[in-house]
Amino acid sequence: MLSLRNLSCRYGAVQALTDVHLDVHPGEVVTLIGANGAGKSTALKSVAGLVHPQSGDIVFEGRSILRRQAHKIAAMGIALVPEGRAIFANLTVLENLEMGGYLRTRTQIRDGLEEAFALFPRLRERIRQSAGTLSGGEQQMLAIGRALMARPRLLLLDEPSLGIAPLLVKAIYAGIDAINRTGTTVLVVEQNAHLALRHSHRAYVLETGRIVTEAPSAELADDPRVREAYLGEG
Ligand SMILES: Nc1ncnc2c1ncn2[C@@H]1O[C@H](COP(=O)(O)OP(=O)(O)O)[C@@H](O)[C@H]1O
Ligand SMILES: [Mg+2]
Repeated sequence: MLSLRNLSCRYGAVQALTDVHLDVHPGEVVTLIGANGAGKSTALKSVAGLVHPQSGDIVFEGRSILRRQAHKIAAMGIALVPEGRAIFANLTVLENLEMGGYLRTRTQIRDGLEEAFALFPRLRERIRQSAGTLSGGEQQMLAIGRALMARPRLLLLDEPSLGIAPLLVKAIYAGIDAINRTGTTVLVVEQNAHLALRHSHRAYVLETGRIVTEAPSAELADDPRVREAYLGEG
């Protein structure tokens, strides 16, 4: 469904990605794990059209999206939930969700809202609350709900657990599991390897801009090197 091929990306003198290969098949949850600064966000932003790689290619459903504008990529069925969530703090929960459905019909928006509330009931309870007053975890739920309003076929999530209370992290990942069960393909980036490996089919490990390992997530969770470097063991 998605294929990053030989992707290299730099910011001035900083080489953020070098020859990255990564595939996501329809129906999968794929995770990209790596330390802070490894290039995870750059990889997702490249897919979403927010940064422009110097070489390589990004192919989505058979077509190169490398030089496309971000709004065109979004219209093709890819949604990014960025790191730090980027919700509209002064708008209500409902207004934020409606913004996510700006390309949809009224019926589709109504259905989308029901799905978001079924996924994250806390959002329904806070429908008229301004988004800036939500907790970090609730804002993450809102950001995911808003991305889903566009009905993406591929959902990109940048560190959905970062800085969020454990109880809400659990609810967010239960939501991600449920989103995938309904057929949405997911590429999720995480520093929290424990969590990412438990909630994905396959995983890639990124170290200073290079993919160093690719394996089924269950296998990687048992790999001594990964346990030592990313799971705080050994
Ligand atoms: N806008 C930018 N300008 C310059 N350097 C950047 C920019 N964004 C990221 N970088 C650098 O690129 C590298 C990868 O960053 P990033 O993709 O954000 O990593 P991660 O998401 O894994 O923490 C880091 O060295 C970071 O400092
Ligand atoms: Mg990042």
